[in-house]
Amino acid sequence: MCGIVAYLGHKDAQPILVEGLKRLEYRGYDSAGIALLSSSGFRVHKTTGRMNGLEQSLPVDNCDEILGIGHTRWATHGKPTEANAHPHMDFSGKISIVHNGIIENYSTLKKWLQSKGYEFSSETDSEVVANLIGYFFNTENEFDNTTCQSENKFEWSVQQALSELVGTYGLAIMCSDYPDMLIGAKKGSPLILGVGENEFVIASDASAIVEHTTRAIYLSDNEMVTIKGNNFHTKTIDNIQITKTLKDIEFSLEAIELDTYEHYMQKEIAEQPTAIETCLKGRVDIANTRVVLGGLQDQLRDLARTKRIILTGCGTAWHAGLVGEFLFEQIARIPAEVEYASEFRYRNPIIEDGTIVIAISQSGETADTLAAIEHAKERGATVLGMVNVVGSTIARTTDAGVYLRVGPEIGVASTKAFTAQVAVLTMLAIELGRRRHLSYDLSAELLTGLSQLPDKIASVLKQQEHIKQIAKANIDKENWLFLGRGVNYPVALEGALKLKEISYIHAEGLPAAEMKHGPIALITNNMPAVFIATKSSQYNKVIGNIEEVRARGGRTIVIATEGDENIKQYADHLITVPDVTEQLQPIVTVIPLQMLAYHAAVLRGHDVDKPRNLAKSVTVE
Ligand code: G6P
Repeated sequence: MCGIVAYLGHKDAQPILVEGLKRLEYRGYDSAGIALLSSSGFRVHKTTGRMNGLEQSLPVDNCDEILGIGHTRWATHGKPTEANAHPHMDFSGKISIVHNGIIENYSTLKKWLQSKGYEFSSETDSEVVANLIGYFFNTENEFDNTTCQSENKFEWSVQQALSELVGTYGLAIMCSDYPDMLIGAKKGSPLILGVGENEFVIASDASAIVEHTTRAIYLSDNEMVTIKGNNFHTKTIDNIQITKTLKDIEFSLEAIELDTYEHYMQKEIAEQPTAIETCLKGRVDIANTRVVLGGLQDQLRDLARTKRIILTGCGTAWHAGLVGEFLFEQIARIPAEVEYASEFRYRNPIIEDGTIVIAISQSGETADTLAAIEHAKERGATVLGMVNVVGSTIARTTDAGVYLRVGPEIGVASTKAFTAQVAVLTMLAIELGRRRHLSYDLSAELLTGLSQLPDKIASVLKQQEHIKQIAKANIDKENWLFLGRGVNYPVALEGALKLKEISYIHAEGLPAAEMKHGPIALITNNMPAVFIATKSSQYNKVIGNIEEVRARGGRTIVIATEGDENIKQYADHLITVPDVTEQLQPIVTVIPLQMLAYHAAVLRGHDVDKPRNLAKSVTVE
């Protein structure tokens, strides 16, 4: 949510910022802007909308600045106008900043600055940060370099301003009096410093850095970095020197290229057989009928004896948690419940001794999930993470965890992360079940079933053209229902979410039996009802629910098990998936729903990877 990038080195900064912002655009695309600094001052370019608009408006000649900052915005305070686009300048025109996060006390600070004669040209909270730094920088007699440990007045002014802020920030800051200096600071929003050969890139995530260097420092909250020429130092924002370890960025540039695909979402759907294979690799030990989760090895004994598991996350991750709830109860017989991370800490949740909280997140940066983790930790819970992005804040904040290992997910609508989250939860449920009461036969069946999933997903992907035709036949319908029971109910929710997110079609996901308690009033032949009716313990009940829809003239799209001849009579459109043990079905049944949503969005001419109003990594609460 908002992407920031900054460069100081020996190359032209402009193309580096442009490329970096393109990679970070999934974090927001309401507006984009860059500011470049040389000894002759700032050069600033901003535009509303996408990065390609900004890129086209940029000059190509005389762009030889080696220092600059850039921003791609997901609007929080103020409409997506050019005035609200970053970078923001202070009143004196000496300070330029880009900001990701929310300044909660901006209104008080703004009034105070206005009382001192400062004028504002945007509605953003971020401009307050620029002006506050400017205030300290321009106020005479405050900075005394004989007693103050800060390197210079610019750094000192940043520290003074940061100590006044309440809220979250990832910041990159420049000052025209210091055209060889760049400062970055972090609290609550991610910030990484890429360290190359006499060049530095600060960015919200590694995708904007990896082209220049694979060595990076992950700043923690309340830390800052000052880069001057070829050197840098890290400090806490209250000016204590700290030594940070350089780490290797663990993904390659190829992993974030589109390759031959038209959209990242299309690529990420297609990658699922290999993504799941990588996720399971070395973890599913069929020979010994057990699961090896290195990151949880020390926790498994306690986990197997836990009284209650609470799963938390947002959006798609919450849906994976809902599958997890089913799996922990069915397979491991451990009471489990799933909580919206955004609601969790406001409910005064009961966390008894021995409760384990599992936080699920693709990005590892979702602010609501982080807030839930902090709350659970304050109450003494052990918190485990299931995260995709290595080194992300959630991965570092949790007590232990399991990485999804599916590589970067760039499309805003999550796909391969969902199937991997479910795969990891399934592995954990099996291992806990095995340590409790689960029969050897069922453990072996589930583990073998898991290992066969990559091939089964691949066979569903072959139905691309058929699924596209189903999307086409229903493309004029503005309201859809997605219905499933048991472990496939969360899949129905996920199918509806995918359709909403990228095709802007209204869709509801429901437990199939709930339909008769209200939503059935909506059924007409203008409302496609997508049923997940695979072979399961509730198969006959789902057939009953399909009958109820058809009796009212409803049109059905049915996801069924291959070879099920009986189901044909109930389906206006039929999509089949390979036979899979009931507990493992979500990883297969969600695939056609992802494809349906993808094709509906493409047919409607939408920007699949950057849907309206959304951002992939939501770093504000
Ligand atoms: C945003 C995205 C969703 C995602 C959710 C949680 O709302 O648009 O696709 O599921 O955040 O993200 P996380 O990175 O924590 O899984």
